[in-house]
Amino acid sequence: MNRDWPHKTRELHNHHFDSTIWNDLAFRDDDIVIATYAKSGTTWMQQIVAQMLHGGDPDLAVAELSPWLDLRVPPKAVKLPQVEAQTGRRILKTHLPVDALVFSPRAKYLYIGRDGRDVVWSLYNHHANANAAWYQALNDTPGRVGPAIGPPPTDIRDYWRDWLAQDGHPFWPFWDNVRGWWAVRELPNVQFVHFNDLKRDLPGEMRRIAAFLEIPLDEARWDAIVEYCSFDWMKKNAVKSVPLGGAFWDGGAETFINKGTNGRWADTLTPAECADYEARASAELGAACARWLASGRNP
Ligand code: A3P
Repeated sequence: MNRDWPHKTRELHNHHFDSTIWNDLAFRDDDIVIATYAKSGTTWMQQIVAQMLHGGDPDLAVAELSPWLDLRVPPKAVKLPQVEAQTGRRILKTHLPVDALVFSPRAKYLYIGRDGRDVVWSLYNHHANANAAWYQALNDTPGRVGPAIGPPPTDIRDYWRDWLAQDGHPFWPFWDNVRGWWAVRELPNVQFVHFNDLKRDLPGEMRRIAAFLEIPLDEARWDAIVEYCSFDWMKKNAVKSVPLGGAFWDGGAETFINKGTNGRWADTLTPAECADYEARASAELGAACARWLASGRNP
């Protein structure tokens, strides 16, 4: 069937991104792409997919197995050969909006959403605990386009206000990431998953994901597979799933697998600030998408 597949309309470069790497990737029929804005359960989904593919292996080095393709560190000349050398089914991570990717009908795409407030509370922890090696890698690796990233303000409220007022600052635009993926959610090779749904019913969501990806499940290993995707297990074993074993954060990998909860903003943001965010979400995304982003349940 002929479809109007998404196509690339732009390249994105910043302290983190080099979207051009996707132009040079040779897709394979069974590639899996995990896409999120950021801090929405990307690492969780990488763990889920990898554990289901590998039949529940506690020693799986998921971060190594599943590279963030558009992160400009290491540069694409180093990263692409590593990705090309993988022999098993590939799990590729991206934080790009769908129109800055090269979208392939041959791959399957999982998009994970999370309320913007939860994203920012998670992002603040990520950013405020980043160490000198993180700043050096992002700012000093040759090829950076745009300004360097500096430390966050000390008050999370200021961080929140900047992020909302400057659409994703100092990371990247939020609304257009969610909106673009939402527009392609009904393609046969795209599946939406919400952070809250993973929390509500992890085994149920995992089975839905396995069916979409056509991963045959080893029922004898199922309980172990689910356990290795639980928050407690991932927190204890964070070194294997967190990028570079957590070397970029004070407190290491356990800082990255932080709390795994939602709504931590509720006692900081005022009701007026929440109403403002909700109105903005509705205006940017439309009511149905905003509803999904706020609370999940398969769209
Ligand atoms: P918090 O910072 O709110 O705790 P990403 O991988 O996209 O950067 O997302 C990181 C967020 O996912 C962190 O959220 C982290 O704790 C949460 N997370 C990772 N694994 C999880 C799990 N098994 N259960 C619940 N949350 C998880």
